[in-house]
Amino acid sequence: MENNRLEVLYNKKKAYDIVFETSFENLASELEGIGVTKANQICIVTDEHVEPLYLSFVVDACKKVCDKVISYTFPAGEDHKNLDEIRGLYEALIEEHFTRKDFLIALGGGVVGDMTGFAAATYLRGIRFVQIPTTLLAQADSSIGGKTGVDFESYKNMVGAFHMPSLVYTNVATLRSLDDRQFSAGFAEIMKHGLIKDVAFYEWLLENMYEITDHDEEVIMEMLYRSDSIKKAVVEKDPTEQGDRALLNFGHTLGHAIEKASNFTLFHGECVALGCVAAAHISYLHQLLSKDEYLEVRDMFVPFGLPISMDDLDVDMILDNVSQDKKNGENQLKFILLKKIGKAVIDTSVTRKDMETAVRELLLLDD
Ligand code: GLY
Repeated sequence: MENNRLEVLYNKKKAYDIVFETSFENLASELEGIGVTKANQICIVTDEHVEPLYLSFVVDACKKVCDKVISYTFPAGEDHKNLDEIRGLYEALIEEHFTRKDFLIALGGGVVGDMTGFAAATYLRGIRFVQIPTTLLAQADSSIGGKTGVDFESYKNMVGAFHMPSLVYTNVATLRSLDDRQFSAGFAEIMKHGLIKDVAFYEWLLENMYEITDHDEEVIMEMLYRSDSIKKAVVEKDPTEQGDRALLNFGHTLGHAIEKASNFTLFHGECVALGCVAAAHISYLHQLLSKDEYLEVRDMFVPFGLPISMDDLDVDMILDNVSQDKKNGENQLKFILLKKIGKAVIDTSVTRKDMETAVRELLLLDD
């Protein structure tokens, strides 16, 4: 690892740093570095799971640079990622006289990050915010790139905005409080980065499999640094997903559909792993990957604790969910396939039949 910081550009200008730390010790100086002073107010937004674990550390760090620090706690979970909960946060900010000079801090996983970012994007037409991601999924994916938003009725991330954070403070020590299932789910996005963009990183992940699954902190730091470097390059080139940023959706078309069909009982990352296996299978059907490459991609999720099959997938519901998502977004389905390991492409020729074959294969694996 060259250093502990990645600088992310937005429209070719420096937008924010992602810093990698093993404690909250440097948070106060990082906040000063982005211009937080005594004249500002900070609202730390978290959820009821993360609050008892880390809120006091973050409050202490903020109080070193700022006199007025408040907090706001959402109920935990995707079920609460909606406009009703955002309304409560707006009310608290108005009551405490937060102005456009003030800051929000998102302390938590992907849901807290997306919701806090959305409140920051919209409160007074936009205020600054800091991401302090505490899950592997948030550290590897959702805290980077400025996608913010909430779910609307049954549609995931249907309402949102692109709003860049001013800082992403990644304290890898927070991963110690994750259980193995959550850790593995976050890892799916990291594997995805290797598969779509960087075969050397993919091979490095396989070489370091034992250190990663043992949560060796030094290896985890390097893994996140390399994974975040891949995501940074993609979002810098295409911040608002006009083109190549869509490559990050590898495994997500069917992954989201499976997640919805499971009624969110499966974790996002578990569904992404299943979606990646299905997308690799379609890549094989389209003669982009060889059979051996498909089987390799499929099987390498297993040692990292991720599913590659399920015995109770409702194939029709999954395919209908894909059509529903498509109807509410683009006219044409942009499916991400692998041309080879380490190189993804956008494909508009994937049919319902291809998807059905790939989802049925996930079921067959279970026999
Ligand atoms: N998680 C995909 C993206 O940030 O575009």
